[in-house]
Amino acid sequence: MGFRVPELRNASVRIQHPERAAAIIRSLKEQGPSKLQVISDFDMTLSRFWCHGRRCPTSHNILSDSRVISEDGRKQLKDLLHYYYPIEIDPNRTPEEKQPLMVEWWSRVHELLVQQNIHKEDIAQIVRESGVMLRDGFKEWFDQLHEHNVPLFIFSAGVGDVLEEIIRQANVFHANINVVSNYMDFDENGVLRCFKGPLIHTYNKNNSVLQGTEYFQQLSTRTSIILLGDSMGDLTMADGVPNVENILKIGFLNDKVEERMGKYLDAYDIVLERDETLDVANGILRYILTET
Ligand code: TMP
Ligand code: MG
Repeated sequence: MGFRVPELRNASVRIQHPERAAAIIRSLKEQGPSKLQVISDFDMTLSRFWCHGRRCPTSHNILSDSRVISEDGRKQLKDLLHYYYPIEIDPNRTPEEKQPLMVEWWSRVHELLVQQNIHKEDIAQIVRESGVMLRDGFKEWFDQLHEHNVPLFIFSAGVGDVLEEIIRQANVFHANINVVSNYMDFDENGVLRCFKGPLIHTYNKNNSVLQGTEYFQQLSTRTSIILLGDSMGDLTMADGVPNVENILKIGFLNDKVEERMGKYLDAYDIVLERDETLDVANGILRYILTET
């Protein structure tokens, strides 16, 4: 497969069953772009984990670290991150064990954010000042999908208003994109008053929150899937797709690499170790979309 998709030889690529991964990629090509859809996580999957030697912010942390949050609020939000993030990525706890703790984390963060004076009009500026970056190669990724009419479903436990703004500012918010995420609800003065339900956290990214959206039903002929994620919770994002024939799961392993590699290799067809680019995904897509 390496000569057809040269990026699969990149130093970051880890694959437990290369033959199996190659067979899936070949099937995706055989089925062609009219059968394909992409389901992707946002934070730390389409956005970068590291940039300029520092951690990049998630969509929540863009808000938490911003100047519109009081100093005390910022400290409380940071404390929550330091307490709950190690739990989120702990390879020794099951998703079932993590679920209630994630609900607790998200609920406490949303509660704190609502207590701040966050204005709808401030979001664009907050994003601009945040230092967030999409992964290298993002333009080719978003543009290729759009040009070939491949639907891109972004399923995010982050903040929808913030991630949409990031994609908009990068000039790649094309018509083929659909987002399901946690969206803010503003009062008549444009001030944040609550988050719209249902709450999406890292470990309920599945049918339980997609019911009623009908998105996948409309796409029932798109039986080939490329799934991109960075968390073990992202693996269930395609569960609502009715007739999956081929699914290629690509996982970014950003943090605690040694401890988590085994589980990632078992779960993802392709694991990208500390890879801040979309090069491998772009290479696979180019191969699938090229008519030869
Ligand atoms: P997602 O990448 O699965 O969509 O989830 C969002 C990420 O945001 C998840 O990895 C946890 C992280 N997060 C923060 O960084 N700060 C927060 O306050 C919260 C609630 C989540
Ligand atoms: Mg993520």
